[in-house]
Amino acid sequence: MNRSTFSRSAQLLCVAGLAAALAACSGQPQSPADATPAQAPAAEAPAISLIPLPAIAVPGEGRFVLSPATPLLADGDAARTVAGQFAALVAKGLAVEPRLLDGTDADGAEAKGAIRFSIDPSRAGAGAESYLLEVTPAGVIVSAGDAAGLFYGAMSLAQLATVDDAGAVSVPAVRIEDAPRFAWRGFMMDPSRHFWSVDQVRQVIDAMAMHKLNTLHWHLTDDQGWRVEIKQYPKLTEIGGCRIPAGDGGIEPSTGKPRQYCGFYTQDQVREIVAYAAARHITVVPELNQPGHATAAIAAYPELGTTDQKLVPSSEWGVFPNLFNTEESTITFLENVMDELIPLFPGTYLHVGGDEAVKDQWEASARVQERMREVGAKTEMEMQSHIVARLQKYLAAHGKRLIGWDEILEGPMPAEATVMSWRGIEGGLKAAREGHDVVMTPSSDLYLDYLQTHSPDEPPGRPATIPMRQVYDFEPVPKELEESQRHHILGLQANMWTEHTRTFERLQHNVFPRLAAVAETGWTPKERKDYAGFLRRLPDQLERYRHWGVGYAQTPFQVDATAEHDRKAGTATVTLESPLAYEVRYTTDGSEPTASSTLYKAPVPVTLPAQLRAAAFADGHALATARTHTYDATSLLTRTDEQLATCPDAGRLLLRLEDDGPADGERAIFNTTIFYPCWQWNGADLDGVASMKVRAGKIPYYFQLAHDEPARRFEPARSAHGELDIHADGCGGERIASVPLPAKPGADGFVDIVAELPQGVAGKRDLCLRFTGDTRPTMWVLDRATLQLR
Ligand code: ACM
Repeated sequence: MNRSTFSRSAQLLCVAGLAAALAACSGQPQSPADATPAQAPAAEAPAISLIPLPAIAVPGEGRFVLSPATPLLADGDAARTVAGQFAALVAKGLAVEPRLLDGTDADGAEAKGAIRFSIDPSRAGAGAESYLLEVTPAGVIVSAGDAAGLFYGAMSLAQLATVDDAGAVSVPAVRIEDAPRFAWRGFMMDPSRHFWSVDQVRQVIDAMAMHKLNTLHWHLTDDQGWRVEIKQYPKLTEIGGCRIPAGDGGIEPSTGKPRQYCGFYTQDQVREIVAYAAARHITVVPELNQPGHATAAIAAYPELGTTDQKLVPSSEWGVFPNLFNTEESTITFLENVMDELIPLFPGTYLHVGGDEAVKDQWEASARVQERMREVGAKTEMEMQSHIVARLQKYLAAHGKRLIGWDEILEGPMPAEATVMSWRGIEGGLKAAREGHDVVMTPSSDLYLDYLQTHSPDEPPGRPATIPMRQVYDFEPVPKELEESQRHHILGLQANMWTEHTRTFERLQHNVFPRLAAVAETGWTPKERKDYAGFLRRLPDQLERYRHWGVGYAQTPFQVDATAEHDRKAGTATVTLESPLAYEVRYTTDGSEPTASSTLYKAPVPVTLPAQLRAAAFADGHALATARTHTYDATSLLTRTDEQLATCPDAGRLLLRLEDDGPADGERAIFNTTIFYPCWQWNGADLDGVASMKVRAGKIPYYFQLAHDEPARRFEPARSAHGELDIHADGCGGERIASVPLPAKPGADGFVDIVAELPQGVAGKRDLCLRFTGDTRPTMWVLDRATLQLR
């Protein structure tokens, strides 16, 4: 998208967290904070279109033109580094490389039309990471009290640069005074479940820097993989760094032999990544998870485990019973690992996990019970706290601080420990009230492995949808928290767990652009946040993603459709929706929608067969490729798993899961509840219907449910391989069809099951569709159901 923002520069964007400047900012047009997204994004992007929104930005007149001849001047080494980073970024994203001058060239005529970077000690009072950016048509000055601030000033400058239709690069005149709201602006990456290469980690770091995020939490150890070289314990990566994917995905197609999935970072690679991040003012916080999520480590060194059971790094997901034992020798192991991690990670914190450590093995172990008596722990949680306290002491002695998941609050906790609140904000609230520092990362709002739209094009993940608005609206400082304790909220962090994320493209899809919303909450003064304005700025952010090679989700920018069918009349009424409520335009003649196509205002009546092509627009530009929605008499008789409801009593944990084969390439994806696989077609019109065809597949049942296991409810099978049962009026209603299932699906991974429906069953009925039998280690799942007419 080529953008000409100059004409908009008179529009004053003045956002202030730096209070003194607020008065000067009064009177400018502001979007109401509660503007509905339906109205908001249709408007133009503001002149100063940055994410995160700066604290104060006052547009000036004119533009500064950036060309290969533009001199970059830098005062001192730190400024020179930032100038070089700016030059590289602009060269990569905008294909124009300004000249970085050395000190002797930087005087006189050369300084005209220049961009000057300088560390200015007098700006230190504006706070860590703050900066001042002054752009006029005659030149640019970026100044800051520290190198991080200067870097963020350079990021803002690079992001403000746009290319016009003739290929000229320029920056709107502006004065930006900016500083972050929170000191911890984090993102968690999980290479334990699926491994991410050094280059992919670098790409994430680049994107974080662009969003002014400053903390990368690196989840290096878990049940499925130990991903960091520890020289004293080579088997951690030799054995703990490899697993076999579940089901067919774990079998080498050419040989039929197990297919290893391996990966770890050598210490040299860790050093390289940490340095790469540090150069972008990002601190890497490693996580050494204990006492649970320890299967891979125990598989490598069985003496670390609580039971004698032989373990392998798991190819399953969920909560495992496997805990480190409580021996002194195991604490020494953890200390030895920390001894190797500490020099690799120069930041303040080391994360010691602590989450989801169900205590069954400790309760059942006479030796652990004896250890509890030895250390004076009255409960297993106190035993866990004893270990946390030991680790805290060790870290403190090495100049480090401990951070852990909020479960560590359940036992006595060292005063110096910091809490990462993931099970909502309550843990964080409690911890802050008790005087602990806190990072807010509630799964309800900041887990980016949860899906972001209801589109059928979403990748696998957890489909409790967390749309953009919910991410944006998350407020890290609980209202209930007393003023005196608010300083304990260090900030927020988005987490990207990768159980269900097999490719980097999918990781980027889940993370971007929702991470932009996290970044704005982390950086922008609370009172200046504005969701409608964020959506207006978002298309420019997408353009930057394209310039800088950041993959992002298309689904929020595409148009979803649902249709109501009048079978007798041969018509349908189609409702179109842009998930982020951008303007929707559509065609019905098969042509590509443009900015002048029909504007969608209300559900569209169509006569079958019909085709709608629809796209979302902002500022006259399509935000993603148009989607084509085709309807005919047959298509409206079909519901996919995404379109069906889950049965009301299907319990928690609806997941969007992939088939396990083929080993590489495209696989089928299914929405299913893993406690009780059951789908419901509400209001199915059965008049004139003879049968239902159900297309079903099978996926590995690869879940460890720990204490939730008793909640699993598979209906008993009545024949060798179970049945597909169909009930009318919900699952408690009459069973109207039952078809025995085959042992396994066909070679394509699917089977079509045809269930004859009785003549007398007519009208609109809520059909319950479920598979009987406990078929673990696999599980039948529904792909689509089609009503077949007489
Ligand atoms: C977590 O999501 N188990 C921290």
